Amino acid sequence: MDIFDELQAKIQGQKVSLVFPEGQDERVVQAALDLAAADLVAPILLGSEAQVAAAAAGRSLAAVTIIDPATVAESEQAAMIETIVERRNGKTDEATAQRWLQDVNYFGTVLVEMGQAEGLVSGATHPTGDTVRPALQLIKTAPGSKRISGAFFMQKGQQRFVFADCAININLDAQTMAEVAVQSVATAQLFGLDPKVALLSFSTKGSARGDMVDKVQEATALAKEMAPALADRIDGELQFDAAINQTVAAAKAPDSSIAGEANVFIFPSLEAGNIAYKVAQRLGDFEAYGPILQGLAKPVSDLSRGASQQDVYQVAIITAAQALAARGE
Ligand SMILES: CC(C)(COP(=O)(O)OP(=O)(O)OC[C@H]1O[C@@H](n2cnc3c(N)ncnc32)[C@H](O)[C@@H]1OP(=O)(O)O)[C@@H](O)C(=O)NCCC(=O)NCCS
Repeated sequence: MDIFDELQAKIQGQKVSLVFPEGQDERVVQAALDLAAADLVAPILLGSEAQVAAAAAGRSLAAVTIIDPATVAESEQAAMIETIVERRNGKTDEATAQRWLQDVNYFGTVLVEMGQAEGLVSGATHPTGDTVRPALQLIKTAPGSKRISGAFFMQKGQQRFVFADCAININLDAQTMAEVAVQSVATAQLFGLDPKVALLSFSTKGSARGDMVDKVQEATALAKEMAPALADRIDGELQFDAAINQTVAAAKAPDSSIAGEANVFIFPSLEAGNIAYKVAQRLGDFEAYGPILQGLAKPVSDLSRGASQQDVYQVAIITAAQALAARGE
């Protein structure tokens, strides 16, 4: 079964509400209308009625909610400002909060923070930072995480893997690498994987030395401490071949509980993770879905500015599945 068929089966009829701040963008509006028509998501589009109607190109808007930030009631605006100031804990004053609300990404993020939407999908016309920053400042990380990260779900036929961090943390220390490993377990489960997590290096179980190897060893120990129930599902430091190939694993890491069968790969730097997913995609013919932001208290997804209507549709399905999983927590 295709992974999107599986995710759609989970979210269909669940009325997961997602806010799309870019309600003036045709790709976003068309995808939102398709999602509503298939009963996969309850979309909230930000923009004026006229902007959304123009992007809808004649299709009925009956199945979506439209909120125009420019005409929102004063009492509602006051509540939103209060939410920002409260969440910022002394770092942001009322005047700044009011200014932030002029930005659709902040406006949408506040709706999520206030519980009026369960997740947010943006980035079709905004750079990554503008989509992600409001979430970091207002939604913040889930308990257990200090840093968020960005994973890619990689698929070719029945081969399914999770790669992380490929998108967010430019300076990955041992603590963050450990958090990425634990966060990636939830992402792998979202995609139906039975997670076996390898923390990767150029060394396997002490075969090489140096600060970079020490970092991955420390991260492995920290990850096991953070998630004791998963301790035998997480291992490192492993080279990629030892992580994925049984023969190499038998030679290099015979005592490892996951070597040779890992399906979640945690990279020791953003460079390694970002390059690896693109190599798998371009040379290995894997489909790459992401970045899937993990470690946030509520799901927010960043589209690429080159995203197609189909990409928006798929990212929204993943975001809704994350939101549905969060309902159960
Ligand atoms: C994620 C990112 C957009 C944050 O950008 P930023 O706004 O410049 O970050 P700042 O350092 O100013 O931090 C803003 C807030 O977010 C928080 N933050 C930053 N990175 C974070 C992370 N990874 N996890 C959790 N919180 C984070 C900061 O603590 C800060 O919070 P505060 O305002 O409450 O103090 C930035 O790290 C980034 O651009 N990362 C790389 C993205 C990239 O180029 N990827 C390439 C492949 S897609």
